[in-house]
Amino acid sequence: MNIEFLLATEPPAECEAIGVPVNAALGAYSAVEIDEARCKRRGFKGKPGSSVVFDDGETLQVLVGVGNPETAGQEAFRRAGGVFQRDVEKCTTACFDLRGVSGPAVSASAAIEGVVEGVMLAAHRFEEYKSEKSGGALARVVIATDHTDATSAVVAVARGTNMAEAVLLARDLIDHPAGVMTPRRLAAIASDVAAYAGLTIKVMDEDEIAAERLGGLLGVAMGSAEPPRLVKLVYEPDADHARQVNGRVPTVAIVGKGITFDSGGLSLKTGEGMMTMKTDMSGAAAVVATLGACRALGVGCRVVGIAPITENMPGGHAQRPGDVITIRNGKTIEVLNTDAEGRLVLADGLCLATEELPDAIIDIATLTGACIVALGKEIAGVMGNDDDLIGQVRDASERAGEKVWQLPLPEEYRKDIDSEIADMKNIGKAGQAGTLAAALLLAEFVGDTPWAHLDIAGPARSENESHYLHKGATGFGVRTLLELVSTFEPTRGREDEEIAPGAGESAESSTSDDSNGDTGSGIEP
Ligand code: BES
Ligand code: MN
Ligand code: ZN
Repeated sequence: MNIEFLLATEPPAECEAIGVPVNAALGAYSAVEIDEARCKRRGFKGKPGSSVVFDDGETLQVLVGVGNPETAGQEAFRRAGGVFQRDVEKCTTACFDLRGVSGPAVSASAAIEGVVEGVMLAAHRFEEYKSEKSGGALARVVIATDHTDATSAVVAVARGTNMAEAVLLARDLIDHPAGVMTPRRLAAIASDVAAYAGLTIKVMDEDEIAAERLGGLLGVAMGSAEPPRLVKLVYEPDADHARQVNGRVPTVAIVGKGITFDSGGLSLKTGEGMMTMKTDMSGAAAVVATLGACRALGVGCRVVGIAPITENMPGGHAQRPGDVITIRNGKTIEVLNTDAEGRLVLADGLCLATEELPDAIIDIATLTGACIVALGKEIAGVMGNDDDLIGQVRDASERAGEKVWQLPLPEEYRKDIDSEIADMKNIGKAGQAGTLAAALLLAEFVGDTPWAHLDIAGPARSENESHYLHKGATGFGVRTLLELVSTFEPTRGREDEEIAPGAGESAESSTSDDSNGDTGSGIEP
């Protein structure tokens, strides 16, 4: 059900429920009085993620904990929105009281946007295959705010709605069974998205993929009866949104792993290990969803999205452990484990991205189980060849409420993927730094282009219900990517241009320590 969001200066009388964010000292932000004794009896301490519902017979009062007001930022309000939605889903009209919320940790606009996202994300259920739908009733949420700028408040609601819709699109694509969400189906949906979002799209079929020498994608696809697809989406900002840096509009390329089902191929996974492997196209889903929201969000740079899409199956034509494949740029890879397939399709995707001469490439992939071992289920790994770009990704993820942690890209470990017979092999040392080995292989396909790699193997799926997350796909990465392209600054000039002093650099980055000690003159030869 679509929820309508309205703004008001105070909670309307006809609301069935009123949500009140409460801090850890049991204080409300607005002038609403909190009955401390009643809270204590119910064990409510204002902790983030907790809530308590008081029913006075007429209106439900839902107190939602946001914790320490000094640190409760947008994510605290996103989660509060999710917790609130779960408490009021049987009501038709509810109000969330954001009066008094505006300070150093969260602006009034950021809080509005967060609550809209949290409510929408929590409200969505993937029930296409259920005979009985759970049927939440929530149709209208009034946000009470004393925001001093009405236009900004409206913009915040729109931004929250667009962000949440993008995340929900990704979740739906991922949650469909792999038998339905085949490479052809996913490419067809990408075309629909391109049509409504004003994007140009190119879909390569298996013949074009072969003609374009995408040997990694072809190799992985060999074992499957379903043909592969390569989707390329391009967003060009309208003239009134385009942001010129150094006389031109910057380009960000995003590449997403699109394995619609990962059986492991001939290096077959266990039954347990492949149960959730429909999720292995979460990177591609994030790319489609991100591109689909760029126009609605008024993104100012060009965005190119690339998704190599295939199943990884063990059919009679499947690639064999020990086979050697040739990636688009001519580099060869010995495939010693067919279950390390993501890096093979991404290698081709990164070559195509590099050919676009973008200012930055971000790839996003459910790439390694080792990343779950290292960082658990809630934190993605980020690696790359450009610390400024990685910094921008980290800042974007912080704003998005999606946790990432930087891991190294150690030159010393490059030898671990040396092959006896090819340029490299697709696995590193058994049981050692598997996430880094995968990233070191990807690095071979981006040349000098500033590049960051997001390994989302952990957070792409949630195994529990909490705040705005459900069991199943999370849509992780969509908000981070949208935040990133919304604020992206080129980290260096292109080879073919001179950067004008100060152009494309914020005051901070122009004083920061650039890795090549050179903030002005472009990529090293
Ligand atoms: N898609 C998996 C990674 C994965 C595992 C994502 C679990 C989410 C949950 C990937 O293709 C894979 O199988 N990686 C192997 C690599 C290994 C063979 C070097 C892995 O992590 O075990
Ligand atoms: Mn695999
Ligand atoms: Zn995989």
